[in-house]
Parts: sequence; C-alpha cells; structure tokens
Amino acid sequence: MVRPFPLFNAPRVNPFVQGLSDLRAICTAPGKVILFGEHAVVYGHPALAAATDQRTHVEVDCCGTEFTVNGLRIHDRYHSYLLTAVKEVWGAQGRSEPIRIQTEGGVPSASGTGSSAALTVATVGAMHALLGKRDPAAIARDSFRVERLTQGGGSPTDTSTSTAGGGIAISRLDDPPNVGEKLWDLHWEDPENPRAWAVERIELPDLTVVVGNSGVKGRTDEQVAKVAHAQKKNAVVRDALADIGRITRDAVPLLRRKDFVGVGALLDKAHAALHMLGVNHPAVENLVQVARATPGTLGAKLTGAGGGGSMFALTERPQAVAEAIKAAGGTAYVVRLGGPGVQWVGAESMEGLPAPSAAPAADETAT
Ligand code: MEV
Repeated sequence: MVRPFPLFNAPRVNPFVQGLSDLRAICTAPGKVILFGEHAVVYGHPALAAATDQRTHVEVDCCGTEFTVNGLRIHDRYHSYLLTAVKEVWGAQGRSEPIRIQTEGGVPSASGTGSSAALTVATVGAMHALLGKRDPAAIARDSFRVERLTQGGGSPTDTSTSTAGGGIAISRLDDPPNVGEKLWDLHWEDPENPRAWAVERIELPDLTVVVGNSGVKGRTDEQVAKVAHAQKKNAVVRDALADIGRITRDAVPLLRRKDFVGVGALLDKAHAALHMLGVNHPAVENLVQVARATPGTLGAKLTGAGGGGSMFALTERPQAVAEAIKAAGGTAYVVRLGGPGVQWVGAESMEGLPAPSAAPAADETAT
C-alpha cells in the first residue's frame, strides 16, 4: 500500500554545494480528546473531538548526512510514523536531502490522547514549512495519509483535530454534520472501500475535563482492526456503532446550550456503547467507575481507540476527580479543551532553492 520509497534511490545532493544547509523549521501540534464518536467515525458516523493543551514539538533540519530522529538513524521499527512522513511528504515532493528530526513529546504515548497524530502533524507541518507551504488543509490531508498508511486503517479525526485545534465535527462527506464552518474534506482512494469525510469547526464552550491514563498501552491499529472484524460478523456491534452516531448528533445541541448535565449523561451512554464494541479495558473501566463515584462528576467515558489508554470525566470538581484517579493507580491530567492547532515556532523555507541534482545515486539504505 505504501508507495515505493524514492528517497534513498534518489540522486544524491551535496547540500553544501547547493546552498541548502542550515534550514530548519520548528512546528508544534496538540493532542486531542474524542468527546463522542470514536470507532463509529471510521464507518461514516459523526464524531466530535477537541484539541488539548498538551503539545508535541518537532524540529526538522535540512540537511544532514543521513536521515535521523533524535540523533539516531531513522528506522521503521522505532519511527514508523516519521519514516512514512519522510516518504510521503519529503520524498513525494522530490526532495532527497537527508533531514534531521528532533521530537519533544508533550502528549503521553499510546494513551488515546492523540500522541501519534500530534507527532505526525508537527512533523508534516515542519516539512511543509521547509517546502514553503503553510496550508492547514494540506497538512491535514498529508497527515491523514501518513497516519492511515502507518496504522493500516482509521479516520482523519485525530490528525484533523491536531491540525485545526479547537473543536471539530467530522462525518461522511455525503452526510455532513452542518454544525459550523467547513474546514476541509478528506478522501481515501481505496478502490475496495472508498471513503470521504467532511471536517467542520464546532464552537465548544470553555471545557476542562480530567483525563485519566490507565498506563495500559492501547494500540489504535489493533483496536480498529478488532472492530472492523467484529462489525462484519455481529449485528450487535453494528447497532452499537449506529448508537454512537446518534449519541454524537444528540450531543451537538447540548454542547451549544452548555447543558453539561445532558452532555455528561451522553458520555455515560457513549461509554456503554464503546464497551459493546469490545474496546473497553478493565483498567480504564476502573478509572471510569472511580470518576463517576466522585461527587460532582457529570459523566465519564473511555476516549480514543481503547484496549487500554485513557478515559475522561466531565466534572464540577476536577481536582477531586484527579485525586481519585491517582489513588486508583491512574495518571491524571486536568486538560483544557480547545487549544490551538498546528503552529510554527520558526521556519525557513527551501522554496526557490534548486531541486535535487541529477548526479548518480549514492549507495544508501533505508535503515
Ligand atoms: C482513535 O483515536 C480514534 C478511532 O476512531 C480511530 C480513527 O478514527 O482513526 C478509534
């Protein structure tokens, strides 16, 4: 499925001769919380998601002598998202100059709060800046492509949320949520299973939630594949996906009206439907129960792909819920929703600089 990697077979450029040395871009992108609609969004049902105030920073420097990540040679086993980004963005633009990538992750990994999306979007954003482009829609499209190729499935929810920031509503392109300004649409050109999504801005009220990380690492690709398999065979699972879609639609007017009691009740219902999909985990369920048992909690659900990872609670007493989650063995973060999307800290562009030379390829490998 991944395009042939042109980079390491491409003509070798001596960056110092061509004047491409010492270019760099620093880009940051936020993590996300899916409020409603995870998994169901993969099947065209709507989802609502918000950027968090946790951010990943990525610096991309051109040019080095080899492709590195945090000082180590890039390797598909450790840097699968970044290697795909190098192939699909840098290589696809015909660039072959080795780049150095430095990452600083502020989003806990494999926790269901968008660490891989933040890493992908910040890296793609930095590469785009070096290539002279700063278009969020283009970043969202490339980032979705990178994430989908790396994970082998999934929707553009995480990468679009991280790119756009704030709150987004996402749904099938032919059945858009029509809740706010259209930001972009995204297509997946799989002949057997073509899909297209529309992304809209949703105005969120000022929301602080408590995220509880179970510490059990959940893999998005595995959970997406598990649901894909289950929904083919099991009508209960398909019904649960449709229920999640209805709950998500019902949540939109409640969020608009700031009816947090109503939103909390829908969070509980969404959690029950996700449980029916088989993506809940005992460690996450424990944190959901602990949060619900704390006075002031309006609702709680798992968030993201599940199989471990995180839950979040909507509560009038964030500190009390955070303490209860910690006492139950989880890691708690009081997170403000609606943070800014992709941002550049500093960037120099390669635009206008010479394209790679036609000199014979050097003997390089991808590891
Ligand atoms: C993962 O954060 C959300 C899922 O819906 C997968 C996806 O939309 O790509 C489980």
